[in-house]
Amino acid sequence: MLRVLVCVSGGGTNLQAILDRVADGTIRNAEVVRVISNNPGVYALERAKNAGVEGVCVSPKEYADRDAFNEALLDAVDAAQPDLIVLAGFLVVIPPKMIQKYAGKIINIHPSLIPSFCGTGYYGLKVHEAALARGVKVSGATVHYVDEGTDTGPIILQKAVEVKAGDTPKDLQQRIMEEAEWVLLPKAIDMIANNEI
Ligand code: GAR
Repeated sequence: MLRVLVCVSGGGTNLQAILDRVADGTIRNAEVVRVISNNPGVYALERAKNAGVEGVCVSPKEYADRDAFNEALLDAVDAAQPDLIVLAGFLVVIPPKMIQKYAGKIINIHPSLIPSFCGTGYYGLKVHEAALARGVKVSGATVHYVDEGTDTGPIILQKAVEVKAGDTPKDLQQRIMEEAEWVLLPKAIDMIANNEI
């Protein structure tokens, strides 16, 4: 069984998609062993609890400086003994030490077709605002391995989603989640768990 650790910052709809696909057997040979949030009180932690998965919060606000937070984060990661770390809307810059320690074992979901609308400053709704401002007719989502850069690691899966006339950033975000993110991220985990990649 692949031990999967999921890192979250907010609502956790991608986490929910993973939990649901593990529960219904679509993700084979994997279990979610721990959820880490950098924000206290987020709904993602509730989702973990409802699924019987341990949820922990490691908030930067509780540490004197970034180094201390990074150490605490790595401790919380190590404690889960993960085979795979999934960044599912985790809006924290991953410490280089963690990237080196878990090289090739960290994946991220990004809500655009990388290399468009990605990198520093592109997260959450900002991605969709930028896509709409540029007037693209197609956007989508990307699952990729995490390296030292921001959204620069090798691409695992991508799915295109149509932009519709009159879309607000929230409309586009919702469509990309439903049609791409909630499908791609479970699929990537299943592929990794079953050596299909
Ligand atoms: C998702 O749209 C995810 O792709 C995005 O944050 C959202 C989290 O939603 N991630 C990024 O922008 C990373 N750069 P969720 O908490 O409901 O899964």
